[in-house]
Amino acid sequence: MIRLAYDTHADQRASTLRARLFETRALSVKLAEPLSAEDMVAQAMDDASPTKWHLAHTTWFFETFVLTPSLPSYALFDESFGYCFNSYYEQVGPRQPRPKRHVLTRPPLERVLAYREHVDAAMEAFFALGFDANDAAAATLEVGINHEQQHQELMLTDILALFAANPLRPRYQKAQAQRSEAAKAGWMIQYAGGIERVGHAGRGFAFDNEGPAHETLIQPFRLADRLVTNGQFLEFVLDEGYKTATLWLSDGWGVVNREDWRAPLYWEPCDGEWRAMTLYGLTPLDLAAPVAHVSYYEADAFARWAGKRLPTEFEWEIAARTAPLAANDLSSGALRPLPAPSGAVDAPRQMFGDVWEWTRSAYLPYPGYRAPQGALGEYNGKFMVGQHVLRGGSCVTPRGHVRATYRNFFYPHQRWQFMGLRLAEDR
Ligand SMILES: [Fe+2]
Repeated sequence: MIRLAYDTHADQRASTLRARLFETRALSVKLAEPLSAEDMVAQAMDDASPTKWHLAHTTWFFETFVLTPSLPSYALFDESFGYCFNSYYEQVGPRQPRPKRHVLTRPPLERVLAYREHVDAAMEAFFALGFDANDAAAATLEVGINHEQQHQELMLTDILALFAANPLRPRYQKAQAQRSEAAKAGWMIQYAGGIERVGHAGRGFAFDNEGPAHETLIQPFRLADRLVTNGQFLEFVLDEGYKTATLWLSDGWGVVNREDWRAPLYWEPCDGEWRAMTLYGLTPLDLAAPVAHVSYYEADAFARWAGKRLPTEFEWEIAARTAPLAANDLSSGALRPLPAPSGAVDAPRQMFGDVWEWTRSAYLPYPGYRAPQGALGEYNGKFMVGQHVLRGGSCVTPRGHVRATYRNFFYPHQRWQFMGLRLAEDR
């Protein structure tokens, strides 16, 4: 594509992309600062990854998908890194199995940081070439920035899983979290339903799984104006919720018994009260804060116990359209879900930030969806089976990463992310 000299809009987009890239790259390193080199190698479970791996993998992503195809002078930093730091891209090649990422004590951290600097310098050369902000390389670069933001969230959730498994219960963040005041009662907000257009359309970045935009029929419904709190979830626990088979989906009841679940992940009984492992270490349970680290099964069982249900992803999306994107996300520095702020009676709050919200919607392709050609087509499409959609973002989601159409997805038994719920009901 020929770049026109007067295309100042494209120039502005290129400089904005450059600034966002290097801000994102710097934030990943900053998030690792409180950690020791040993912290960065371990992996608490198969689903999680070591911090050092996240730092290298996000770098490999730019090397593989932006620099190698688009910067003719680019030389690979280390040919062995493709095997070590490819995550799941079958079309790129074989890779270190995810459960065994913790054995990568080599390359050492210093070499991974040197890898980051090598790729960052090459990205400067890529920008110096004067690429067109409208071309495919720019689109891939945008994916790379959003991809690294996803891994920033994973770095923190995986560190929490690691520290929760450590008998010393280390703190990631030193300042003690404040216990908040009693939760205030919320409301159910009414929505009329009808034929609604959902999914992403128009300008601005979105992942392929957010489109095509399409029309869908929504029945009238009510949606809670706020998230379910620890205090409400504690009532479910004390009411023998985890011991009452009739509240659970069959698969969920199987997991509860197999794994001996008695409370959300990271809750621990201690001297007659509950504590919760957080990025501040083991702290008293904040009853007014949203419950976090519950699986789909637990969210669904709680909703049934409460006489309600989980929302569909489109009910959530309709309610989120007018909600402010600025929220308790990573930029607030709280690193934990916070109690609902006050606000208008008919305005939903906590739609973004705090915790990802489970929906009852299966993670499926929208009508007309086709995964993109090439290896990046593996990014989202091949995971569209057996998972549920979560909406909204969390207290460790980077600012600017999510929007009303954003679809996160996890298996129904998973709960190590900052996952919670909001209740819905039929009208
Ligand atoms: Fe990745």
